[in-house]
Amino acid sequence: MSVPLLEVHGLTKRFPGVTALSNVNFTLARGEIHALCGENGAGKSTLIKLLGGIYPHGSYEGELRVDGKTAAFHRIRDAEHAGIAVITQEFALVDELSVAENIFLGRAPCRGFCVDWLEMQKRAVALLKDFGLALPPETPVRELGIGQKQLLEIVRAMDKKSRVLVLDEPTAALTEQEVEVLLGHLRRLRAQGTTCIYISHKLDEVFAIADRITILRDGASITTLATRDATVPLVIKHMVGREITDLFPRKAGASAGPPLADVLSVRRLSVAPAHGKPAFLRDISFDLRAGEVLGFGGLMGAGRTELLMHLFGAWGHRLGGEVMLRGQPHPHPSPGESIRRGLVLASEDRRRYGLILAQEIGFNLSLSSLREFTRAGGRLDLPAEQVRNQHFFGALRVKAPGQHTRAGTLSGGNQQKVVLGKALMTGPSVVLLDEPTRGIDVGAKLEVYELINRLTAEGRAVILVSSELPELMGMSDRVIMLHEGAVGGEFARADFTQEKLLAAAMGHAHAA
Ligand SMILES: Nc1ncnc2c1ncn2[C@@H]1O[C@H](COP(=O)(O)OP(=O)(O)OP(=O)(O)O)[C@@H](O)[C@H]1O
Ligand SMILES: [Mg+2]
Repeated sequence: MSVPLLEVHGLTKRFPGVTALSNVNFTLARGEIHALCGENGAGKSTLIKLLGGIYPHGSYEGELRVDGKTAAFHRIRDAEHAGIAVITQEFALVDELSVAENIFLGRAPCRGFCVDWLEMQKRAVALLKDFGLALPPETPVRELGIGQKQLLEIVRAMDKKSRVLVLDEPTAALTEQEVEVLLGHLRRLRAQGTTCIYISHKLDEVFAIADRITILRDGASITTLATRDATVPLVIKHMVGREITDLFPRKAGASAGPPLADVLSVRRLSVAPAHGKPAFLRDISFDLRAGEVLGFGGLMGAGRTELLMHLFGAWGHRLGGEVMLRGQPHPHPSPGESIRRGLVLASEDRRRYGLILAQEIGFNLSLSSLREFTRAGGRLDLPAEQVRNQHFFGALRVKAPGQHTRAGTLSGGNQQKVVLGKALMTGPSVVLLDEPTRGIDVGAKLEVYELINRLTAEGRAVILVSSELPELMGMSDRVIMLHEGAVGGEFARADFTQEKLLAAAMGHAHAA
């Protein structure tokens, strides 16, 4: 048998109060795509950070071998020299630089002592084209959406000609079409001999791409399976230690009964990114009733996030149209006003808008509700705050030693839960959820769905933006598909099919 490209033996990694990995074994064969699966906090990201030299040799116990030889990575560069490129969940792009500058960061083509800008431009264009990314290379990265940033990171790693490409939830922000493109690239790279470690919570993807699957649970390696011998229920069972049957527990017709009042009415809304710019959202109309889940789908860039951010008061310049919130005009609100009037947004970009990572979980949870805990003289009622925090901390099952743990040390999915908790603590009547289950494991997804059901049962209204059609169809009472900033089609639950929704997303509402 040939020597594996990479092996780890008895890996144990501790953080204060947490054992993230305990005695993990893992073997990576040459040329395979090897998926890592496990619940939020299972230790997946920690494991690949060890492989990538992000947690240096000496900060963990156990042995790492590359090509059969013991390896000690003291810094990221050591892992890169061994041919291992790790793309983490946190973006490593520089917002202020251009797309091309980011691709060639630290290794720009030079002529003499100067950066060869023309050459850089030319190579960037070729690379972007190769990857099907229609972006001018001089675009500043700060103007990119979360999905485009993700793709750009992958382009950069692919250009480094790494032997092992490690991807931590690369498709979390991508639409289904873009996922297909990415998987196509990975298959092509595999055929050329590149080895890949692939972390994802989307099991259909894992089954479509992986040769083998290793499952982590509570920091231990539970088992490694050949994909052809595995099934989705089996993988889930290993991940959570129990069986899950109903993946979308939305009670159909939950909003039936007497017709409920509209809590949000949007009429002919047109919004530009800024004053003096042309409309990006065009002529959007819809009503949202109490107790209802209204889904919004569409391709990346269709305007779903912008619509939610605008309603919340965090984006855009309104050119025309009217928004009524609980019977009152909602003309140019600030986020603070929106929260006071009962409308709240849980943002998709948790690092930019969602959390203050250096602060404790509890601090983050109550960030949007401080008003509620403020007593006479501006004094904070800390005991009351603590009790509420503890309630949400428990209800969302955040995996951490306690609410005093810093948010930045949480695993990706657990950070997402804190973002949701922060929004829900404001006691809203309208909840805007932008990709609420991104990066969340199967079990925690169920918890989010049950949370949505509880919200609607209490008469709150939910807008759900999701790029996953099964989730959108499984959880919504109605779905509106956006296409290039306008409504591409509206569907009642009885009319949901993947084909119809996709056709509307692509602007062919009547073709299906
Ligand atoms: N820097 C850190 N300091 C303290 N604890 C940490 C740190 N990084 C990770 N942890 C803890 O280690 C455990 C494993 O986290 P890790 O990020 O590896 O999980 P994961 O499997 O990648 O989860 P997810 O699917 O949510 O991304 C978690 O309990 C997490 O809170
Ligand atoms: Mg992770």
